[in-house]
Amino acid sequence: MSLVSKQTFGTTKDGSQIDLYTLTNKNNMQVIISTFGGTILSIKVPDKNGRFIDVVLGYDKLENYESQDKYIGALIGRHGNRIKKGHFSLNGKEYQLYCNDGNNHLHGGKIGFDKKVWSAKETDQGLTLTYISPSGEEGYPGTLTIKVLYSLTDDNTLSIDYKATCDEDTVCNLTNHTYFNLAGHDSGTILNQKIQIFANYYTDADKESLPTGKIVSVVGTPLDLRQPTIIGNHINDSFEQLQFAGGYDHNWVINDYDGTLKKAAFACADSTGITLTTSTTLPGIQFYSGNYLDGAPEGKNHSHIYKRCGFCLESQYFPNALEHPNFKQPIIKKGEPWHALTTYQFGLNK
Ligand code: BGC
Repeated sequence: MSLVSKQTFGTTKDGSQIDLYTLTNKNNMQVIISTFGGTILSIKVPDKNGRFIDVVLGYDKLENYESQDKYIGALIGRHGNRIKKGHFSLNGKEYQLYCNDGNNHLHGGKIGFDKKVWSAKETDQGLTLTYISPSGEEGYPGTLTIKVLYSLTDDNTLSIDYKATCDEDTVCNLTNHTYFNLAGHDSGTILNQKIQIFANYYTDADKESLPTGKIVSVVGTPLDLRQPTIIGNHINDSFEQLQFAGGYDHNWVINDYDGTLKKAAFACADSTGITLTTSTTLPGIQFYSGNYLDGAPEGKNHSHIYKRCGFCLESQYFPNALEHPNFKQPIIKKGEPWHALTTYQFGLNK
């Protein structure tokens, strides 16, 4: 069980007070979470020499969280990843969402959950954040109530437990957009770190990163990450999927999905020995290698968040699933509970 402490972060441009909550476990691992966007600001874990390393990208200033468009560390919703042309039909009715990524809707729209102020409650298990998304927000039907529990256990696991209910049928695909750098947030690119994804298949995507509906075997492609693989080894290969996305930015189909917690990915950095194992109850994982990071705004301790300085492991329903009935649908039914659990366990290389 973790201890939770609170401090003030600052005030947003429109006058909301933002707090920071620190979760600490018995090994002194620490996670700092902000009520602005439900964002993870920092995760400090011990390296092979017992030194604590902050392994996530972030900013020191609240104003940088308000102005950034990289979703650094934030909770994402109502619908993480892309919906083609921001359009879907549900129960015979057509809906048009805000398109904030070229022709498409990405990560909840113009003002997604990453830019909302969440209310916080400390509990025996950790920190519960709540946000009530009004009906019609960003074009989505129904009033959606979301509760996210962040908890930290003594095996150095950060769990994110997502619960939601709605008063109408609606779309729901919640995730978290933390960028990890297991050599330290200010250590440069993640290209010499290793990634392993427990997936035999990925969802083929077009040049707008929209899944086409095809589920393709990883065998013989640079998306075969079934064994620990140095991220930089094939990231620039002439393989079309990588060229379209400017690196890794794809959805993998997690092996043996059945709605229970399954291992999705493993990552490690030799320089610190720090490892990260990600598990989830959701069917997909987006491994994004930070291809669009561009150095601005200034990061923690005057660091710069340049291209490929961090990677995300976003648990999710497959992107653009609403267009592809063969994909599991990110739909929440009126009055029925929605639940997903994703865990990030930190360790050391043996
Ligand atoms: C997406 C990228 C997108 C990025 C935005 C990722 O989850 O997969 O395509 O550019 O978020 O920061």
